[in-house]
Amino acid sequence: YRRLRVALLGAGAVGSQVAGLMRQHADELADRAEARLELVGIAVRDIDAPRDTDLPRELLTTDAESLIVGADIVIELIGGIEPARTHILQALNSGADVVTGNKALLATHGTEIFDAADQVGASVYYEAAAAGAIPIIRPLRDSLAGDRVVRIMGIVNGTTNYILDRMDGEGAEFDDVLADAQALGYAESDPTADVEGYDAAQKAAILASLAFHTSVPLEAVHREGITRIDKAIMDAARHAGYVVKLLAVCERLAGEDGAESISVRVYPALVPRAHPLASVHGANNAVFVEAEAAGSLMFYGAGAGGVQTASAVLGDVVSAARRHIAGGVGVGESTRANLPVVEIGRVTTRY
Ligand code: HSE
Repeated sequence: YRRLRVALLGAGAVGSQVAGLMRQHADELADRAEARLELVGIAVRDIDAPRDTDLPRELLTTDAESLIVGADIVIELIGGIEPARTHILQALNSGADVVTGNKALLATHGTEIFDAADQVGASVYYEAAAAGAIPIIRPLRDSLAGDRVVRIMGIVNGTTNYILDRMDGEGAEFDDVLADAQALGYAESDPTADVEGYDAAQKAAILASLAFHTSVPLEAVHREGITRIDKAIMDAARHAGYVVKLLAVCERLAGEDGAESISVRVYPALVPRAHPLASVHGANNAVFVEAEAAGSLMFYGAGAGGVQTASAVLGDVVSAARRHIAGGVGVGESTRANLPVVEIGRVTTRY
């Protein structure tokens, strides 16, 4: 097989698992990709930082820029805006395809990144950026490209689903379960991102952009978190036949004049107990998609976790490798619909 040089940026919970799986399954990955994926280096901030997984020390470097030069595929798992943005642009401009799980970056600078990729005929793969291990990016971008998605309702944050699920199941109080959720390792480094809905809003912007072939700015996503949900609200919901879930709702709206717009909103919603989303427990995620021809589809599974999310990253690496070997052109984002996003806020009556 031809060798492809793979540079990994970041060796946190996901990155270290990606490195481990690449070495563990090297032969199988080579067969799938029809290319030998050679991990040429792992860029980290601190070479001596303690890590869960043993990584070969000779691969570790603090010099990401040198690693990117000459790489065929760059995996960015640093997270956050900078230096991830600069590294991704450098990778694309030097002819590499990019695999990233960076929801914050794509939700805020997606257009810049995708335009940069288009200009050089490269691709950006980001299955890990929303709902962890669950395949949802490709279904929205590819499998449903011939259909018209009308609505997405997603439980896309594991931490808040875990908290709400324990409040519902055990009558626990918010503050008592937040610490447990953090201990599970799913929470963002600042758990405000989870409990105030910022993490879900980033994922909602990414999913809505794909589903409606448009570009949804993060500022256009209505966002409410779960910090005001208490035992009394959970009890009242239960007695009325509902469960409270933090939903990311992305909807296509038809105006009276036939002009379409979309609404993207994250808020604690009342979900009827008979709805499939009501039975998503623990830190799991689920994305319920309604499309005109396909009808209702539900994607369910682990929305967070190092090795689980590494599965999505490696799938992208194989796709990028196949494209490289085939000499194909970049997989572009289709954002031409240019739909306006209207502010709606919470609507609790529809589900
Ligand atoms: N903090 C996120 C969650 C991690 O709880 O779902 C995955 O993006």
